Amino acid sequence: MDFQELINTRKSTRYFSDKTVAKDVLETIVKEAQRTPSWVNAQPWKVYISSGDSLKTVKRIYLENNMKGIKGSPDFKNLSRTEWPKFSRENMVGATEQFNNTPGFNESQITLFNAPHIVYLTIPVGSPDWSIHDLGMFSQTLMLSAQNQGLDSAIAYALVKYPDVLHENLNIPNDELIGIGIALGYGDDTHPLNQGVRERNALTRVLTMID
Ligand SMILES: Cc1cc2nc3c(=O)[nH]c(=O)nc-3n(C[C@H](O)[C@H](O)[C@H](O)COP(=O)(O)O)c2cc1C
Repeated sequence: MDFQELINTRKSTRYFSDKTVAKDVLETIVKEAQRTPSWVNAQPWKVYISSGDSLKTVKRIYLENNMKGIKGSPDFKNLSRTEWPKFSRENMVGATEQFNNTPGFNESQITLFNAPHIVYLTIPVGSPDWSIHDLGMFSQTLMLSAQNQGLDSAIAYALVKYPDVLHENLNIPNDELIGIGIALGYGDDTHPLNQGVRERNALTRVLTMID
């Protein structure tokens, strides 16, 4: 796919069809994501892809926990919305409104977007902030590679809010922090959850040129 098209068509998909992704395609996108730069080539990431029975189990326990109202306790700590810096809070307003007006949005968060595959990305416990930075870049490279393979993706806190469940059921070692999850598969284009685009700031709000 043309690079510009790739960048401009990636968006978060919140309802996937049941169609699974071939193993060699999943391997390709991880291999391409490995080209991500990192501090002194530390490559702090590890990748766990849950599908099939293991994902069924994770989904069941996540649903139970969510229904019981168990609070998320992610490895990358949460900040309540009101504590975020003003600039970021202002930017969240539009998306929050869109999400609140989309029927099924809350359900999508607890059913893990009906994804057939979830990629969990980890870094070693004790890593510096720079490794979180590197993991963010890895995530984006992985999602663009997935897009290039005709897949859809959703990067989400909702997928990693109960890290204990993931350590226990996916055998992810306890000396790794589960930073983020990315749902992968083929989006159902007709589903209301997959409509609309999240707008970006005007360039003038973001860019300062200094001569
Ligand atoms: C670190 C991170 C966590 C996110 N967590 C969630 C989440 O829990 N649920 C969700 O529906 N979307 C989540 N998102 C997706 C964002 O809402 C989305 O990227 C943003 O609104 C921009 O939309 P786009 O991805 O469609 O361009 C998350 C994105 C990032 C980068």
